[in-house]
Amino acid sequence: MARLEGKVVIVTGAAQGLGYGVAQRLAEEGARVVLTDIKGDAGLKAADALRARFIQQNVASESDWQRIIADVDRTEGSLHALVNNAGIEGDPAAAKDPEHAPLEDWNQIFKVNAGGVFLACKHAIPLLARSGGGAIVNFSSVASLVPTPFLSAYGAAKAAVEHLSRSVALYCARAGYRIRCNSIHPGQVQTPMFDVLFDRLSAQAGMSRATFAQEFLATIPLGAFQEPRDIANAVLFLVSDESRYITGQALAVDGGFTLAN
Ligand SMILES: NC(=O)c1ccc[n+]([C@@H]2O[C@H](COP(=O)([O-])OP(=O)(O)OC[C@H]3O[C@@H](n4cnc5c(N)ncnc54)[C@H](O)[C@@H]3O)[C@@H](O)[C@H]2O)c1
Repeated sequence: MARLEGKVVIVTGAAQGLGYGVAQRLAEEGARVVLTDIKGDAGLKAADALRARFIQQNVASESDWQRIIADVDRTEGSLHALVNNAGIEGDPAAAKDPEHAPLEDWNQIFKVNAGGVFLACKHAIPLLARSGGGAIVNFSSVASLVPTPFLSAYGAAKAAVEHLSRSVALYCARAGYRIRCNSIHPGQVQTPMFDVLFDRLSAQAGMSRATFAQEFLATIPLGAFQEPRDIANAVLFLVSDESRYITGQALAVDGGFTLAN
């Protein structure tokens, strides 16, 4: 039997990249996946490819979360898992170091990456609890585990996600909701977000993109960039009942990057 048969799952930021990979993997295992994204056309196309449902939303909007949860409650009748994948690195043209980063960019990154996860948990917890419990997986990053002066707001917001995930885990356990909450910490996965970052860092280092990527690879003990499927398989485990006794944990899927850096 498929590992998520009959489970209703929301995946945010699922129009592309890791979110799409996660939605695809969960659907393969029998989940009824509801994809959401701020990009309407790309989100619809992604959902069509998976024969799933798409709802457009901005994860940083509280009224959008109220609308999404009401819609899922009305249409699906339950919710068993929430994957908070949507995230941004901020304005690619803005400085990211702690001395020069503009406050507007810091605020926007926190609003989406940390605020979006808070709002998602806040509004999904009641429906998850009424559905008999379930799992929340929040996308943090290796950037929460090592200092990131080249992405200071992003790293700090991802650290907030990691900490919030533990608070949600303990709160839900003590409330008797049977809701588990864990954070996942991808390393470097080649997605549109990754491309923007590596273009910027290679230009700053005065290297070609290929040379920079080659040098970066040397910092990953397992010697390869991850694929979206590597992250999706870890999310599948955290969403499924196979991890029924795991809550409040931070799972790095990084080829050993945080061991060595
Ligand atoms: N790619 C990596 O190497 C990597 C590493 C560590 C962590 N992550 C995290 O994984 C997640 C997915 O990353 P990705 O590489 O697939 O990024 P991506 O930029 O390729 O995709 C992110 C998706 O989120 C959507 N999104 C952005 N802002 C939104 C908003 N306000 N509301 C709703 N949707 C919104 C985008 O439209 C896009 O479809 C992010 O949280 C990211 O921080 C990625």
